[in-house]
Amino acid sequence: MKSYEKILLENKAWARESLLNDPEFFLKMLDTQKPEFLWIGCSDSRVPAETITGMHPGEIFVHRNIANLVVHNDFNLLSVLDYAVEVLHVKHIIVCGHYGCGGVKAALNHHNMGIINKWLRHIKDVYRIHQDELEQITDEETKVNQLVEFNVREQVMNLAKTSIVQKAWKYEQRPHLHGWVYSLSNGILKSIFDMPPGTEIDTIYQYDDL
Ligand code: CO
Repeated sequence: MKSYEKILLENKAWARESLLNDPEFFLKMLDTQKPEFLWIGCSDSRVPAETITGMHPGEIFVHRNIANLVVHNDFNLLSVLDYAVEVLHVKHIIVCGHYGCGGVKAALNHHNMGIINKWLRHIKDVYRIHQDELEQITDEETKVNQLVEFNVREQVMNLAKTSIVQKAWKYEQRPHLHGWVYSLSNGILKSIFDMPPGTEIDTIYQYDDL
């Protein structure tokens, strides 16, 4: 059997099992979704949002890209963010990185990776901000993991710089922004940074006429 055929078979088994556990499972799914969380994670296949958080269909709105970046002119991310905040009214946004992230590792080297250079450049910018601290770390793995944490923190701050988040903070005291890092070696999520609604941000990024 071809690998993709196995996926289709597994799907049928899952649908059958879901119905056995709850005959109304798919009926419930026909209602509009009302997730409380937006997850912005890495595309890495080892960090599946629903699996590691025990979430079920309908509970978490997900956006994933290489190294969980929040890039302010990425229309894909911005559309997801706008929809999650304005329409779904999510209460929490989680930016989740992971130790040993391939995207972060790639940003630390000097290979020309073509179009991917453009994406990794955002991580190199995070490196530059924390250059003094990072260059004191001699162990390569430790350096990658420290940059993973700095990157998550920076991406959470990027969310707070958007008019979408600032407007929701001002009028609805939500969403709460969270920065987490997942460990591939033990499966545990660690909270490393958070910004509750109303957290002060650098003045230059504040909009005063929302
Ligand atoms: Co990654």
